[in-house]
Order: sequence, then structure tokens, then C-alpha cells
Amino acid sequence: MDFEIFYGLNGVHFDKSKIASIDGLNGELIYRGYDIRELAIDATFEEVVYLLWYAELPKKAELEKFTADLRSRYKIPEGVIKVLRELPKDTHPMHAIRTGISALASFDKQADDLEMDNIHRIGSKLVAQFPAIVAAFYRIREGKEIIEPDETLSIAANFLYMFNGEKPSQAATHVMDTALILHAEHGSNASAFVCRATASSLTDVYSAVTAAMASLKGKLHGGANTAVMKALEEISSVAGVEDYVLKTLSMPGGRVMGFGHRVYKVLDPRAVILKKVSHNLAEESGDSKWFEMSVEMERVMDLEMDKKGKQIKPNVDFYSASVYRMLGFPGDMYTPIFAVARISGWMAHLYEQYANNRLMRPRLVYEGQRGLKFKAVSER
Ligand SMILES: CC(C)(COP(=O)(O)OP(=O)(O)OC[C@H]1O[C@@H](n2cnc3c(N)ncnc32)[C@H](O)[C@@H]1OP(=O)(O)O)[C@@H](O)C(=O)NCCC(=O)NCCS
Repeated sequence: MDFEIFYGLNGVHFDKSKIASIDGLNGELIYRGYDIRELAIDATFEEVVYLLWYAELPKKAELEKFTADLRSRYKIPEGVIKVLRELPKDTHPMHAIRTGISALASFDKQADDLEMDNIHRIGSKLVAQFPAIVAAFYRIREGKEIIEPDETLSIAANFLYMFNGEKPSQAATHVMDTALILHAEHGSNASAFVCRATASSLTDVYSAVTAAMASLKGKLHGGANTAVMKALEEISSVAGVEDYVLKTLSMPGGRVMGFGHRVYKVLDPRAVILKKVSHNLAEESGDSKWFEMSVEMERVMDLEMDKKGKQIKPNVDFYSASVYRMLGFPGDMYTPIFAVARISGWMAHLYEQYANNRLMRPRLVYEGQRGLKFKAVSER
């Protein structure tokens, strides 16, 4: 029998969703009806989390209540910090943070309760505590003292504070808010799909989110931003960019990280915004090297892809690399920062999935042998 196979589940719709819409031909991304181009500039991360979860922008009193609730959950259990301290300092941050997230389940007596109220409680807790886990692992591995969260600060400001140990400027907080908003949600990408598929067995939220973290780590997904920075660091000058791109593309299966997307066939709208942010940061800081190298890489890729008749444009991970660099983050922490934002989208997906669950159970077309007879090991 002939079966149609959709490699990489390309083009497969597995459910309906009201969370986000991606128009890959027009370069448009919408969260619950709102264009991210507006949200990224005018909203705070907390407002966007509320929007993703409750399908409308919060009124003043609702936002105050929501924010206060999140802030009351900022502090992570001592036991999780102990787990992080036990890990070798050179552990890949995504392994460490995934372990920390998984460990949170052990300190939650209601981890397995799948009542919707409890799922929401865990969602708020995870959005509140992801930043603290990322910052704690970073500071532990650097041999620095862990900074306690500050409940007077927003998620973006508190994250920068716990990471660097200094209260951030308003400008830095605004950039962080923008980056978090742009990374918050993106439809049924690999990690969101994994999150929903994991939850579909009616396992708990922590397990689903831990699985999503595992998926995000890969360089074809959230790991790309770290890979972009690694490439820029290796190249280290604008003059070296063209050679690097040509050499990479000449290798069998060679890919330039931070370019290409399954859905966008034009420029990723998130990349457009992050390019502007990167440009602004370069001008303000006087350190334009990373931005200029990125622009040069985009130019060379455009030329090379035009020659091949392909539409391979920068994606969200490309300009976020130079933005994070100019905010002072080390390259291997970029994917964890992506997770600090994306936990909000994963939770929105989990609310939908648990509310209308069906076990995900696709099929494979078997092409192996049949009819073989078992022989004892001595006869093989
Ligand atoms: C994101 C990505 C996995 C999407 O892949 P996909 O939809 O499965 O597309 P494919 O891997 O089938 O690629 C289609 C074609 O474009 C090429 N291509 C895709 N991304 C490319 C890149 N970054 N550099 C060079 N060529 C690329 C492929 O080589 C392929 O060419 P071919 O048809 O001649 O074999 C892919 O673009 C990629 O690997 N990008 C780099 C990693 C990255 O930045 N990931 C973050 C995504 S937000």
C-alpha cells in the first residue's frame, strides 16, 4: 500500500489553535490577533504572557494582579540550587537548566495534578522561575554568588539583575523585554510540538516542559543563536565573513546558522525588529563589530542564495546573537535565554492541549524485513 509521507511533518496540521498565526509568505507573526511588530515595541513581557494565556490584553488591575502573582513566585527552591551546584561547571547550560526545571517537580507536591487551575499555577511558577534557574547556573559556574530575585522588578529587569548582579538601566530592560516578547511564541515549532506531544499521554507539566527544553537545545531550533555567535567569534572580523560563508556553503550539507526557516519564505519579522535593536545597541555602545559582521553575512548569503534561486533569509536567531552579545551575555547562554521567553508559549500550548487532549500517535511506514526465523545465539 502507498502512504504519503510528510518528512519532518512538513505541512501537517495536527490540531487547531488560537494562540499564534504565522504567515510565511508575507512575513507576519500574530499573537492572539496582535501583530508582534506592535507588541515588541510597546508591550512588556508580562502583558504578552497574559495575552498568550488569556487571549486578551490585561486591563490595569488584571495586569497588577498577574504581575504581583508572578513576582511572589520568583524564588526557586534551595534544593534546585543544590542540584545545580552538584553539576560539573562545564556542563552545557541547556543540560544544566533542563535538569533544574525537571528537579522543580520534586519540590512540588502537586506536580501530577492535571486540574486546569493547578496547571495554571505551575505555568505561572515556571515563567517566574526560569530566569532564576538560568541566572543561578550561570553564576554558580562562574564561581559568583547567586543573586536573590528582587520582587520589585519586572521579569526582564530581574533577569538582568540576577544575571549581572547590577540593577539594569531602563534601556537595557526595554531591549530584554523586546527580546523576550519576540521569542515568546511561534506556533507548532519543534519544541512546542514536543511539549504538546509529551503532554498528550497525560503526563505532568514539568515532564512536558523538560522534553520541550531538550528539543529547543538542538542547533536547528533554539541552539542556532549560540551557533551564530560561535561562528561570528570564529570569523572575528567583517573582512572574514565572505570566506566563511562561501566555505560553509561549499561543504556537503553546509548550513549557515541563523538563516532559513520551515515556514518563512521571506524575512522573519522577528529578525527585522532584532536587526534594528542590534543596530541601535551598536550605535549606543560604540561597539559595532558584531552588528556589522551580521549585516555582511546577510549580504553575502543574499547574493549566494539568489544565485541558487533559494529564499534563505535571516531568522530570529541571527540578529538575537549580536543583541545578546551587546547586552553582555556569553554565547552559550543564548539558548537558555530563548527558553526564559518560550516557556510562556509552551504553557499556552499546554493549556490548549490539556483542555482538549488526544494521545498523539502517528505512524511509520515499515520497510524492514518480515518472516525471519529466530535462531539461538549459538547457531547465528
Ligand atoms: C531552519 C531549518 C532547519 C529549516 O529547514 P527545512 O525547512 O527542513 O529546510 P531544508 O533543511 O529542507 O532546507 C531547504 C534547502 O535550503 C537549504 N538551506 C536551508 N537552510 C540553510 C542554511 N541555513 N544555510 C544554507 N542552506 C540552507 C538546504 O540546504 C536545502 O537545500 P537543498 O534543497 O538544495 O537541499 C534550516 O533552514 C536550517 O538548518 N537553518 C539553520 C539553523 C537555524 O538557523 N535554525 C533556527 C531556525 S528558527
